Amino acid sequence: MKIIVVGTGFVGLPHAAVLAEAGHEVYAYDIDQNKIDAYRSGDRERIEEIVNEPGLVEAIEETKDRYLFFTSDLAPIIEGTDIVFMCLPTPPKRDGSTDLSYYTNAAHRLGELLAKRQDERRVVLVNKSTVPIGTARVLQKILEEHGVKNFGVASNPEFLAQGGAIEGSRRPDRVVVGADTEEDFDRLRRVYSQFVNHVRIRYLETTPETAESIKYVANTLLLTYISFWNGIGARLGEIYPNLRMEDLKIGVTSDSRISTWGSYVSNGAGGSCFGKDIQSLIYQLNRAGRSTDLLQAVYNINEYQKTYLIDRAVYEAGFNFNNKKVALLGLAFKKRTNDMRDSSALKAVEALLARGVSEIRAYDPLAMNEAQRTWFNPEKNHLFSRITYHESPREAIEGSDAVYISTDWEEFRGLATTIEKAAPPPYLIIDGRRMLPDYRQLVAKGYAYLAVGDVYLKPEAPAEKTGANGQERVPAAAEA
Ligand code: UGA
Repeated sequence: MKIIVVGTGFVGLPHAAVLAEAGHEVYAYDIDQNKIDAYRSGDRERIEEIVNEPGLVEAIEETKDRYLFFTSDLAPIIEGTDIVFMCLPTPPKRDGSTDLSYYTNAAHRLGELLAKRQDERRVVLVNKSTVPIGTARVLQKILEEHGVKNFGVASNPEFLAQGGAIEGSRRPDRVVVGADTEEDFDRLRRVYSQFVNHVRIRYLETTPETAESIKYVANTLLLTYISFWNGIGARLGEIYPNLRMEDLKIGVTSDSRISTWGSYVSNGAGGSCFGKDIQSLIYQLNRAGRSTDLLQAVYNINEYQKTYLIDRAVYEAGFNFNNKKVALLGLAFKKRTNDMRDSSALKAVEALLARGVSEIRAYDPLAMNEAQRTWFNPEKNHLFSRITYHESPREAIEGSDAVYISTDWEEFRGLATTIEKAAPPPYLIIDGRRMLPDYRQLVAKGYAYLAVGDVYLKPEAPAEKTGANGQERVPAAAEA
């Protein structure tokens, strides 16, 4: 198959690499020449700056210039194409609707080129990125307007989770193909021949509208499940001192009908998909006059979760953030990625700055460059100059008055010892991910501990008068 993948971000690049591994002739196209140059160079650092996925660089190395080609020019590659995968950004607009401008611009460009092609063979354009229900028809109309002959449109949503894009592409749970004609289904079967009739992979053929809906329903259901745990499970743990969150989770999820995934209470679910998709589905249902109460509640719970620990620190722990230094551990929206889109850390930074902190001492194993380059540029907001970047959790914690754990990086599980070495009590630990299994020992040693899913734990031992810097420190609780 000759395949063009339009858009080489988190969705398109891993998809292109795995299609190339399967022996297809794949042209990965992007309008951004810098990205294309980075991919062509094969340089790990440059590629991972753009898309950081385990196994991606190896997959590119394995296939580049044999099966996988990178280009920023569509015209020379259009002849003889069997399939075009549309993997374009579809960001949310202010009203929750989806900005389809990248998508429609690319569709028009493809329409112009496909209308002029010499060969008569059928070409199928497939939506891979999450697009509002009915977008396959929008694509169809655009191509018709340009006079393209012998084409089909299809929806083949991507269900990959970040950090597992390559593995997930090689061994998906399911492949959903929505198309209109047997010829187009057959074309997609040839692309995914290794998954058709697979014993463990569900290969579902349906209409484009159903395929588009499956993606929205799946993502909003996953966020609903996370928000159920955050909105009910965590709340119970925060009311009853003798309630053990981990046991509650085991007890409930031991029922084979109830998933463990999603039961990890947190400072909110981030990422480029959940927030955007639920807002878009709310918009789509509202526009049709349908009730969206459930989805609205889920969205609100998730947003509230992103900053409520900072409010709890003030109202329950009596901590006054004004002029304080706070270590912020984790910037990415989840572990094993450098992606900060919709990350809870963004909201935490906003809330901490609004409460007057003098310094945010940030650390993240992967996302530091991304943070400085894209999100916290002091030229855009002078308050971002209060963010300093550190080489290790210990360095970030040293000299701070409190720590806020925002991302579930595994390395944070061992933080208890680091905190003890770097910051003697009085010191407030705000744990948005329940990363410290031995938090009770810290409380016994005079640390204050505030976690999602737990009541606020006051320090048990009297705090020493002298803090990490030899300066006199006032117990947080006494300051409010
Ligand atoms: C999500 C879905 O899981 C994928 O199935 C979907 O294909 C993808 O969106 C997409 O639409 O492209 P992803 O955004 O990579 O994948 O992130 P998840 O692993 O689902 O995590 C989302 C957020 O929920 C993260 O912030 C994570 O830390 C949080 N989370 C996850 C919890 O707070 N608790 C949990 O138990 C699980």
